[in-house]
Amino acid sequence: MTQRLRAVVIGCGTGGEGKARVHSIGYLHGKTYRQSSEVELVAAADLNEANAGNYAAEFGLERTYGDYREMLAKEQPDLVSVCTWPPLHAEMVIAAADSGARGIWCEKPMALSLGEADRMLDACARSGANLVVNHQRRYLPRFAEAKRLIADGAIGDVLTIHAGIDDWDILSWGTHRIDIYRFLLGERDCEWVVAQVDARNQTRKYGHLVEDHTLACFAFAGGVHGFLETGRAVPNAPGDPDFGQGRHHRHSRQFLHRKGQGTSLPVIGHQRMGGAGSAGRR
Ligand SMILES: NC(=O)c1ccc[n+]([C@@H]2O[C@H](COP(=O)([O-])OP(=O)(O)OC[C@H]3O[C@@H](n4cnc5c(N)ncnc54)[C@H](O)[C@@H]3O)[C@@H](O)[C@H]2O)c1
Repeated sequence: MTQRLRAVVIGCGTGGEGKARVHSIGYLHGKTYRQSSEVELVAAADLNEANAGNYAAEFGLERTYGDYREMLAKEQPDLVSVCTWPPLHAEMVIAAADSGARGIWCEKPMALSLGEADRMLDACARSGANLVVNHQRRYLPRFAEAKRLIADGAIGDVLTIHAGIDDWDILSWGTHRIDIYRFLLGERDCEWVVAQVDARNQTRKYGHLVEDHTLACFAFAGGVHGFLETGRAVPNAPGDPDFGQGRHHRHSRQFLHRKGQGTSLPVIGHQRMGGAGSAGRR
């Protein structure tokens, strides 16, 4: 039998859905590793001792660390999950690449600037590590079905895609939508973007500034335009029964606009975050 890949998680969180926090995406990474016969989750790092301890209990880990660099040096993992807030992604991905990890599964958004993203890509290119940014929602069956229908020509030529995300911002939620645009359009390159953000309230989420409202147009190769609106003014976004109630879960709709039709065609309603996430390769 071949040896299993050794995985570690940086950033455990408090316990995920149903507990104190909604997310704690580190638990999703842990569950995904647990489901794979090819991977063994060997350790986790978190600055918060209680979070690390609870995580170790959940996943039966013998070792946890307060210092992720110490973990990388001692464990020499094959796979590293980076599940901390975005301002930490660049330094952690670079450290993971430098430690010799073969695969790095970094939470979205990838980084807070293009400079950080470039440094992450450079580090991975240098070390030969595969970097994956976790846009797992493209694997939801409803998006796969929409992609199949579009590819089969079932709705004709797509002209525009629209999405609105109520009460969320581009970095914390919108990157999933932009990833879905590319997924539905067969990974077409985006040639240019025109966007305006309103950030007058200096709102912060996940340790960084986010906008209060965005209007953006993404021009994809072949002439398809993706429109995205985020923030407080997205009208009439209803609650999602799959997701429970509350402000975190009033969110997004997505529409395709096809050639020869005067109206938008709603093909995608609400999405639900799956159990164990799979990763979207950048
Ligand atoms: N892909 C998705 O669908 C999805 C869903 C939710 C969140 N996310 C993303 O996941 C990331 C984390 O979000 P979350 O809600 O799980 O966060 P969280 O606050 O629940 O967990 C982050 C953990 O990181 C730990 N931490 C902070 N600094 C650290 C350090 N220097 N070393 C080690 N651990 C450290 C914290 O103590 C905390 O336990 C964000 O980028 C978020 O956008 C993605």
